[in-house]
Amino acid sequence: MGKVIAIANQKGGVGKTTTAVNVAASMAATKRKVLLIDLDPQGNATMGSGIDKYEAPATCYELLIEEQPVKDVIIKETSGKYDLIAGNGDVTAAEIKLMEVFAREVRLRNALEPVRDYYDFIFIDCPPSLNQLTVNALAAADSVLVPMQCEYYALEGLTALMDTIQKLASVVNPDLKIEGVLRTMYDPRNRLANDVSEQLKRHFGEQVYRTVIPRNVRLAEAPSFGAPAMYYDKSSTGAKAYLALAGEILRRKDKQTITSKAS
Ligand SMILES: Nc1ncnc2c1ncn2[C@@H]1O[C@H](COP(=O)(O)OP(=O)(O)O)[C@@H](O)[C@H]1O
Ligand SMILES: [Mg+2]
Repeated sequence: MGKVIAIANQKGGVGKTTTAVNVAASMAATKRKVLLIDLDPQGNATMGSGIDKYEAPATCYELLIEEQPVKDVIIKETSGKYDLIAGNGDVTAAEIKLMEVFAREVRLRNALEPVRDYYDFIFIDCPPSLNQLTVNALAAADSVLVPMQCEYYALEGLTALMDTIQKLASVVNPDLKIEGVLRTMYDPRNRLANDVSEQLKRHFGEQVYRTVIPRNVRLAEAPSFGAPAMYYDKSSTGAKAYLALAGEILRRKDKQTITSKAS
């Protein structure tokens, strides 16, 4: 059965979109069937998949608000060899209109039902806030992957984020699991990054991925070529790190539910 993973952190610029695009491509390269959902109105994951967000025939708006069948809004030809549901400015309107519709928290979950078993993995790139779109992602997901930068206050922010996710989950999705905490943009020469990383491991233990994503300029450049890093520079440390992360996700099992963690 397929697995739905929401990539979430209410902070912007922590590597959510970079992770979404590159882990989706890496997973697709292992011959898994993968769908990436761009739930961020900025549409960066869409552009990073080689799809012009202004030209996308349909987006998450049509899926969530107009209730177009999921199969009609999926784009098949992406540079990362995964399928995509695009995001662009229209998704901002979806966020607002969601407030008015029936069963607004479970729109995405219901919409994905027909394709949930077709895909091995569905990744959702969340916007940088805990708005109705992110609530939809967390309601639809089996688990949440949290990318974070090892900076000062990161641990505090992460604990607060986990609390919020847990509260949300207890209302909309009590079975939600923590897929893992991912250290992104990591610079091993940075003393503070190492300290924060150690604290993170003490606090979150096995939930922290062994794979670390290094700061790597190729990861930052690849989106301007409309491609995941592995198709832009496959020998880059960034591309290799995301391939390793895909391997780690495939090997890991037995997740704790986020709601049971509190008790
Ligand atoms: N490992 C990395 N090394 C270098 N630059 C990165 C890395 N991860 C992300 N970036 C860059 O940092 C910025 C923010 O990353 P992004 O994935 O868009 O974060 P988010 O989606 O959380 O806002 C982007 O310009 C991206 O290209
Ligand atoms: Mg983003």
